[in-house]
This record gives sequence, structure tokens and C-alpha cells, in this order.
Amino acid sequence: MPRVSAAFFMTGALFLAMGMCWGIAMAVSQNFALAPAHAHLNLLGWVTMSIYGTFYALTRETFSPRLAWINYACATLGVVTMIPSLAIMLSTGNTALEPVVGIGSLLSLIALLVFALSAFRELKRPR
Ligand code: HEM
Repeated sequence: MPRVSAAFFMTGALFLAMGMCWGIAMAVSQNFALAPAHAHLNLLGWVTMSIYGTFYALTRETFSPRLAWINYACATLGVVTMIPSLAIMLSTGNTALEPVVGIGSLLSLIALLVFALSAFRELKRPR
């Protein structure tokens, strides 16, 4: 498996461990106010990262490592920026952090666009 795929899975597993602890804490406290942040941590941090990692493992002979690492950096920074600011916003009701949530979501979108570029490269390469 390429190193970048292992990095996607390792980081995704860390995010999932946090997301699961968070879910358990919500269930124990019966306070679901932060459920949207928990959901986005698990979906962007675990599901999406794992799909990216799987793609680069499947295309290990042909993918561009530069694009893959940019994909990884943007996806990781997106989660790290978006989730804490979203959680603070949801728990305090303070909308001053909205631009930070916005930057996090933009980073996640850029990660997807870089991934789409990798997928396009794979689609058009001669076979
Ligand atoms: C130990 C594992 C997990 C626990 C204990 C847990 C717990 C919870 C709890 C207590 C809620 C709030 C339910 C409510 O509002 O009534 C919730 C919502 C949610 N969880 Fe999890 N969860 C876990 C893992 C996951 C995973 C792996 C995903 C996705 C990959 C996920 C996605 C979601 C989604 C989409 C919601 C709905 C959010 C919303 O309504 O805004 N959860 N979870």
C-alpha cells in the first residue's frame, strides 16, 4: 500500500476514534446538541478519508503522489479547521466563528476537487 493511503487510513482511524468517543459521550449525557459536528467528523474524517485512501491504493501504479499528498493535506486541514469551530459555534451559539467553519468547508471542497483531478487523470490515461 502506498504511504499516502496508509496516512489517509491512520488519520481517518484517529478521527473515527474521536468521533466514536464523542458519540458515546452524547449518548451517556443524552445531550445531542453537537450531533451535527459528530456526524461531520465521522463522515469527512473517516468515511471520506478512507475512500480517498482506497482510491490511491487501487491506483498505486499510476497515481500522482503530489496530487495525492495535496489531497491528504487539504482533507486533514479541512476536518481539523471545520469540526472544532462548528462544535464551538453549536455549543455557544456564537456565530463569530462562521468564517472559520467556512474556511474548513472550503478546504474540504478543495480536497475533493484535487481528488476529482486524480480520478480524471486515471480515467483518461491510455490503457
Ligand atoms: C461509537 C460509535 C458511535 C456512537 C456511540 C454514535 C452516537 C450518536 C448519537 C448519540 C447521535 C445523536 C442521535 C440523536 O440526535 O438522537 C448520533 C448522530 C449521528 N451520527 Fe453517530 N455515533 C457513532 C458513530 C457514527 C459513525 C461512524 C457515523 C458516520 C460514519 C455517524 C454518523 C452520525 C450521523 C449522520 C448522525 C446524525 C447527526 C444529526 O442528526 O445532526 N455516527 N450519533
